[in-house]
Amino acid sequence: MVEKRRGCGICWLLLTVVVALAGLAGYRLFMGAHTQVGTDGRAEIALTAADRDIVLAEMRALLGAVQGITTALTQDDLKLVAQQARSVGLAAMGQVPPSLIQALPLEFKTMGRGMHAEFDQIALDAEQVGDREHSLQQLGALLGQCVACHATYRLTASKDGG
Ligand code: HEC
Repeated sequence: MVEKRRGCGICWLLLTVVVALAGLAGYRLFMGAHTQVGTDGRAEIALTAADRDIVLAEMRALLGAVQGITTALTQDDLKLVAQQARSVGLAAMGQVPPSLIQALPLEFKTMGRGMHAEFDQIALDAEQVGDREHSLQQLGALLGQCVACHATYRLTASKDGG
């Protein structure tokens, strides 16, 4: 009986190791990669070619939405403003592969998420407030976020096949 109660020491040890490793992997995935300062003073995010393509395609979609919103505002078409803004809102964020989640710094992801949420707010206000001036102000503030992030980060090729 005494022997039985001693239980499986090695099992506990293994369990502890597994939990610690899982925690570490989760932490790394959540916090993302470290960056290096590039030649132009911006923080460099190293991505594989595939991951970079995903980020840049999303960027072009953002620019397209900004163009769509601006044109809709000149036509005083707030329904179209809402539609264009929602096309790049939180719900429209595509599937992000784990490699990309891990490669992007936490601050970058936070900024990106905040920006998608702002697009949703623009859509909501265009529908509910329906004031062109207000939408234009929101768009100006949002463009400030594009500028701020571009001033902070740049993308580079990662060593592993980028
Ligand atoms: C969280 C950071 C972040 C935000 C917010 C952000 N961008 Fe970017 N964007 C980047 C980075 C990094 C690059 C790559 C720049 C480089 O490597 O020099 C980029 C590149 C681009 C490009 C070039 C795409 C290509 O194919 O080369 C466009 C266009 C662009 N962004 C538009 C926008 C617009 C419009 C907004 C705001 C509505 C925006 N971005 C917001 C980080 C951001």
